[in-house]
Amino acid sequence: MQQFNVLELLSQDIKHTEVEVKGWVRTFRANRFIALNDGSTLKNIQCVVDFESIDESLLKRITTGAAIHIIGDLVESQGKGQTVEIQVKNLSILGDSDPDTYPIQPKKHSFEFLRENAHLRTRTNTFSAVMRLRSALSFAIHKYFNDNGFYYMHAPIITGSDAEGAGEMFKVTSLDIENLPKNGGDKVDFSKDFFGKETNLTVSGQLEAETYAMSLGKVYTFGPTFRAENSNTSRHLAEFWMIEPEVAFMDLTGNMDLAEDFLKYVLKYILENNTEDLAFLDKRLQDEDKTKPQAERNSMTLIEKLKFVTDNNFKRVSYTEAIDILRNSKPNKKKKFQYIIDEWGADLQSEHERFLVEKHFKCPVILFDYPANIKAFYMRLNDDGKTVRAMDILFPGIGEIVGGAQREERLEVLKEKMAAIDIPEEELWWYLDLRKFGTAVHSGFGLGFERLVMFTTGMSNIRDVIPFPRTPQNAEF
Ligand code: 4AD
Ligand code: MG
Repeated sequence: MQQFNVLELLSQDIKHTEVEVKGWVRTFRANRFIALNDGSTLKNIQCVVDFESIDESLLKRITTGAAIHIIGDLVESQGKGQTVEIQVKNLSILGDSDPDTYPIQPKKHSFEFLRENAHLRTRTNTFSAVMRLRSALSFAIHKYFNDNGFYYMHAPIITGSDAEGAGEMFKVTSLDIENLPKNGGDKVDFSKDFFGKETNLTVSGQLEAETYAMSLGKVYTFGPTFRAENSNTSRHLAEFWMIEPEVAFMDLTGNMDLAEDFLKYVLKYILENNTEDLAFLDKRLQDEDKTKPQAERNSMTLIEKLKFVTDNNFKRVSYTEAIDILRNSKPNKKKKFQYIIDEWGADLQSEHERFLVEKHFKCPVILFDYPANIKAFYMRLNDDGKTVRAMDILFPGIGEIVGGAQREERLEVLKEKMAAIDIPEEELWWYLDLRKFGTAVHSGFGLGFERLVMFTTGMSNIRDVIPFPRTPQNAEF
């Protein structure tokens, strides 16, 4: 007798054989029909018990959430809704579940409630589908880079440089915070700390990835990054995963081509390989839409939206063009934007990004050549002396999903830009070395993994696409 998971039982031609399966009870109906799920697929397998031949005390323990072990014959199903079912010959309880206190009842729960029960929420259809898709996306990302000659590089998580300027950082220390060593005055003496200097959790692996691009050629990182911004929005996490490719001898146009090709590949991979979970989430979203007023409904289904991205070119627009569009837009003239755009140089807020993507262009947009002073110091200065070779990719419903740039490869220009914002050269001596020894044009970008998962699954809150979200005032589990 062989042990199978539910996916194998439902997809292989193994009828009329004795099988063994383990899983958790989703529902138990009429003292006869168990819907058993083991996470291998969205679907449950129906297990039919003959209640006359089963001990009553055992029957009582077949409750929602219980872990059970079943041995029986896999046969064609007489009932509707499934092709095969198991006629149970032997059933044992592996782990009981108290039906009165088990939080995941067979009914609709709110996402807020499920967030509080994040340790059990993957026992629901929605969260198991989301997390299987998250896993598949992660695989597709590695596959894309591996198939295209990139090396996977592990950037450090603890960093001694805080120069990236991408956001507030979390300090890493082994000092006794009740009793900090002081430097004469009231400044903390970090020379006494574990690393002999101040250290933080990284906000990005980019600067380190650049060193590897300038030796291995094409590399990418895929790891956790940390930002202590106090932004309690549906699109920000304090701990999130970022994919950062970095490529030597590639300019900004090559960077845009790479990002577009990469995003289309991973979405196509999901459309081809994860049809069941995707179809389920598509239907979920359509059902949710029906409860909303017409104006707030999605104009496309989830699958249509993904196909739209894979089948159409992203619109490439310079910052300057975007500002003109925004300045002349209805919401700007009617003062509907919270931040009115009246001058070149203004930073774009998510309301502006979403207007461009959702209302004006109605497709993914790559904005490039931003004003130097609203972007990071390492971005390559254009000949106009006021814009840099930055690019952001904006997606419908998400806003910014990718941020990247061609890097400043000229030593003197980079030093000037660092001096202008008081980054000491000693702190980034190794980064400057890349510009001293064999410098070359190079570029890269960062994709926020959870924002990609949101887009792919149609989930509207970033807390629902990462197993255990870290946000202000919340680090449960
Ligand atoms: O635009 P960002 O800050 O870019 C960088 O960190 C560069 N060093 C990347 C590079 O060029 N290698 O962040 C990149 C992406 C954003 O576009 C967004 O998708 C995501 O990371 N992101 C967040 N996702 C979730 N929560 C947050 N707090 C995020 N901050 C950025
Ligand atoms: Mg950005």
